[in-house]
Amino acid sequence: MIDDKNNIVEDNKFSELKKKLLQLDALNKITFDLTHTIDLDILLNKIINYATIIVEGEAASILLLDQEKRELSFQASLGKKSKEIRGYKVKVGEGIAGWVAENGISLIVNDVSKDKRWKKIFDEKTKFKTKSIICVPLILEKEILGVMEVVNKKENKLFDKNDEQTLTSFANQAVVVLRNANIIRDLNNYFVNIMEILIQAIESDPLGPKGYFMQVARLATQVGNKLGIVGKEYNNLYYAALLHNIGKLKTNHKIDLSFKPRPRENLTPIIQKEISMHPIIGANMLKQIHLFKDLAPIILHHHENYDGSGYPKGLKGEEIPLASRIIAVVEDFTNILYNNSKNNYVENSLPDKEALKRFFSFTGKKYDPKIINVLKEIIKV
Ligand SMILES: [Fe+2]
Repeated sequence: MIDDKNNIVEDNKFSELKKKLLQLDALNKITFDLTHTIDLDILLNKIINYATIIVEGEAASILLLDQEKRELSFQASLGKKSKEIRGYKVKVGEGIAGWVAENGISLIVNDVSKDKRWKKIFDEKTKFKTKSIICVPLILEKEILGVMEVVNKKENKLFDKNDEQTLTSFANQAVVVLRNANIIRDLNNYFVNIMEILIQAIESDPLGPKGYFMQVARLATQVGNKLGIVGKEYNNLYYAALLHNIGKLKTNHKIDLSFKPRPRENLTPIIQKEISMHPIIGANMLKQIHLFKDLAPIILHHHENYDGSGYPKGLKGEEIPLASRIIAVVEDFTNILYNNSKNNYVENSLPDKEALKRFFSFTGKKYDPKIINVLKEIIKV
């Protein structure tokens, strides 16, 4: 027989268990969401948002540690005063966050006014009233990367050991996804900078004057945007436009592949053959690089003609990748601008009228009419 007292104890145990199960389920869902987020700022905001939910807090912050300066800086904050707090710094050892960063252990303070470690300077600056706080270290491979804190348990409740365990488990998972996002950010940074160096290296006569490839890429993405190209395809178009002639670096007769215009019919068959190789060489160069492999087909076909008379495969119409068709149009149009300004391109310079007339006469033959129409909209002719 179970008396009333035992019933209450069992009920409490059951509700505790149910709460833990709900928290565990939430943690799993959160981890899944976080591992699918790669933007660092979005990730930091999601983490603190989830932190407040799982321990029922009013506001939360993540402070990352600068090992050299021995100080923590607020990277992301959630709550009414989040904007004011961002960028604030705390010395290791100072305040509750600094204490947690120094000792590497979590801390619950349910009445900050009675804790000597508490520094009210941020509350004074932001006019926020902190009552209770739970703060856990962010540790990865024994190294303290920062701290995560949640303040003011809702409904005037107190933070407890269960909250501490849950927040610590969550912090352990959060640091792994943060580390991954940091790696991705570093890779992106590396990628963008290497691209710039590469473009500067190829932007030299005879391949193309300064700013030329950037101009082609900018106009190609403008056209692409109007044609509804977005996301990854948009990025591919941009990078393919920047690198479309990279194959020329590896062809022989570099001087004869000059950027400067020369009717194709005036070229010797050997040089013509050499020219027709640069899309193949460029595509082969780029497909070796995993990040660039989607650019290879765009670059391979950027000299195909809409009527099938181009090279290297003689594809026609919609068989030619859309990005290749855009680059074909934009490249020739940019050449007119550059030639008109004697290889010294000036923003908003007007193309030579005769050259422009000749260029448009290839609509439907060399160029996709749909793309020419979009270009006309952009350049307002
Ligand atoms: Fe080309």
